[in-house]
Amino acid sequence: MLTRLSSPTHEELYRVEDHDSGLRGFIALHSTRLGPAAGGLRMRMYDGDDAAVQDVLNLSRGMSYKNAAAGLPLGGGKAVIMGNPETEKTPDLLRAMGRAIDSLAGRYWTAEDMGMSPGDMAEIARETDFVAGREQGAHASGDPSPVTARGVFDAMQAGAMQLWGKAGLKGRSVAVQGLGHVGWHLCLLLHEAGAQLLVADSDPARVASTLKEFGAAQVDTQDIHAAKADIFAPCAIGAVLNSGSIPNIRASMVCGAANNQLATPDDADALHARGILYLPDYVANGGGIINVAAEILRIAERESWVTDRLAAMQVNMAQILKRAAAENVSPARIADRMVENQLLAQAV
Ligand code: NAI
Repeated sequence: MLTRLSSPTHEELYRVEDHDSGLRGFIALHSTRLGPAAGGLRMRMYDGDDAAVQDVLNLSRGMSYKNAAAGLPLGGGKAVIMGNPETEKTPDLLRAMGRAIDSLAGRYWTAEDMGMSPGDMAEIARETDFVAGREQGAHASGDPSPVTARGVFDAMQAGAMQLWGKAGLKGRSVAVQGLGHVGWHLCLLLHEAGAQLLVADSDPARVASTLKEFGAAQVDTQDIHAAKADIFAPCAIGAVLNSGSIPNIRASMVCGAANNQLATPDDADALHARGILYLPDYVANGGGIINVAAEILRIAERESWVTDRLAAMQVNMAQILKRAAAENVSPARIADRMVENQLLAQAV
């Protein structure tokens, strides 16, 4: 059921198949240098095996960076299931994935990602202990989104300190793209801090509730990146920072929850060249994995542990921004370098 494939860049890569349930997918362990590889399980339609392999390789590498940047004793891994989560996800399929994960004997820990819910994690947990993001159980961590939003909010404050000499966001305007689990909580924190909100979401109901709750102003989804605001917060999809969008950004800072905001690494340099402070996404959005890590690591005092880790993440972000300013490069370049040094230092 698990077939090992070769990878020049990752420690382990597997094809996962189960004919009875129709399961087809892949699991990738990019690095276990800092600890067991941790990262979510994604279910979506792919244009063939190559696209799914590319996704799992990219995502698991990204998890190595995110976990290292958050100071967690965890490596980077990811799993994908090929298929439509609305119509093809069954308990049998999830349990087959659970057995595949179990056979890796704790070298890979899974949790929710796109197309997965806490209920699905509970199904997987019938076959393996190496699953987090559950709603029930001794160390269950539940929905990570509020903690992710808190981390993004803290990161914005570090950015504000760097740009404007004070961390407070009162009176600052923030253009929030995506008002889902994280975006909504971020709006709540920003509203409480006295920021003005400009918002966009492809779901009109989410926009309507944000306008009502927080007195936000609506912006067209096509134009939110170019809104006249102090901060642009991408909290929806990836690759929103690209050669088409960057010339139109009017904000002085970009800081949001979305994964893989840069279309290419060079886009970080393009933002820097325009004088826009880009806060590396995998550092800013590390709150979610910190929340999940408390479950993986079986932390007893989870609230204080998570709070301490978030504080350390904010300090880390501030250091990245300072170094970037001193070297006159994008903070993304500094963050990558810091993580790569950290991983190299652990090399055996
Ligand atoms: P979600 O699915 O709850 O919310 C996404 C929102 O974006 C939805 O309201 C959707 O309608 C909207 N949207 C989709 N395409 C859009 C577009 N083109 N323009 C405007 N709005 C659009 O997702 P969630 O959990 O809030 O995550 C948001 C982002 O943050 C994702 O990229 C996710 O990978 C990332 N992230 C989430 C974490 C978490 O704890 N939930 C942790 C780390 C990263």
